[in-house]
Formats: sequence, structure tokens, C-alpha cells
Amino acid sequence: MKLTIRPLREEDIGALAEMEARAFSMPWTAQDFADLLKYDYCLYLVAEVDGAVAGCLGMRILCGEGNIDNVVVADRYRGRGIAQKMLCELLKTGAERGVKAYTLEVRSSNAAAIHIYEKAGFVSEGVRPGFYEKPTEDALIMWKR
Ligand SMILES: CC(C)(COP(=O)(O)OP(=O)(O)OC[C@H]1O[C@@H](n2cnc3c(N)ncnc32)[C@H](O)[C@@H]1OP(=O)(O)O)[C@@H](O)C(=O)NCCC(=O)NCCS
Repeated sequence: MKLTIRPLREEDIGALAEMEARAFSMPWTAQDFADLLKYDYCLYLVAEVDGAVAGCLGMRILCGEGNIDNVVVADRYRGRGIAQKMLCELLKTGAERGVKAYTLEVRSSNAAAIHIYEKAGFVSEGVRPGFYEKPTEDALIMWKR
């Protein structure tokens, strides 16, 4: 398996929108991904496995803080460390861009995602009750400072 992690490109958008639709009840659309390419405060990475788009992770950088707001890996590539490698690369690139702290929200039942974030040094600092829809669920607010 040849894994490459690189910045999001326009040609990734179709594959990512399909991946989102399979992974989330309220997925980002192709337009949402296209919008990310317009702003330099958006830093989004794509994982490519043997030339195929396998996942995406990214953040918006505002006032020196990175707000991670999309993490997805396609079903068939899960459990191979791809999300963790993307996160590691995102944190490295963020440090180069002067990001001092990172935050994100995650469904309180999403044990795999929470595990990955905790392993990378994120700590749960609060809860947003009923933050998510379809189904309604609390969000953990996690920070890495
Ligand atoms: C969450 C997601 C991005 C993880 O991607 P991935 O590439 O499979 O993740 P990795 O292989 O890098 O790591 C998975 C880790 O979670 C662990 N894990 C898997 N299921 C778990 C569970 N139910 N409870 C706890 N840990 C779990 C694995 O053991 C592994 O950790 P380890 O390396 O310490 O053993 C992927 O499952 C996904 O796209 N899910 C749907 C979208 C989503 O939920 N995104 C997160 C939104 S905040």
C-alpha cells in the first residue's frame, strides 16, 4: 500500500463528496469542499492510497487556533492508520503555520475518533448537549494546547 498525504485538490472533490455521503447523516457537499479551496485559512489534506482518494482531514485556522472540522476515511481503507497519519501531518503543517492550539467536536459515541484524538494529545474539555442531529447526540469539545 503506497500512502501519500498531500493538500486537497479540485479533482478530489467528487470522490470526497461520495465518501462523505456514505459516512455521515449530514454530509458535506461537493460545493462545501470546493469552497475550502478558496481560502488560505483552510488547510485540508487528502490521503491517497495507490493513487485513489482514501480520506480527508482538515481545519480552518483562525486567530492561531486550528478548528478541525472534517475527518473521514473510506470504509475499505479504515483500520490501517490512515486517519492517524493524516492527523499527524495536519498537526505538523499547523505548527509550521504558527497554530498554537487545536479544537474539534466529536459525537460522544464515536469511540474510534475519540481514541485517535486522545492518542494525539487532545483532551475533552466540555460537552455541547444535543449538538448533532440525525440522530441527536451530544458533542465532546476537545482541545490540544
Ligand atoms: C474515525 C475514522 C476517521 C478513523 O479512520 P481510520 O483510518 O480507520 O483510523 P486509524 O486506522 O488511523 O485508527 C483507528 C484507531 O481507532 C481504534 N478503534 C477502532 N474502533 C474503536 C472503538 N470502537 N473504540 C475505540 N477505539 C477504536 C483502532 O484500534 C485504532 O487505534 P490504534 O491504532 O491505537 O489501535 C473513520 O472510522 C471514519 O471515517 N469514520 C466515519 C467518519 C467519522 O466518524 N469521522 C470522525 C468525525 S469527528
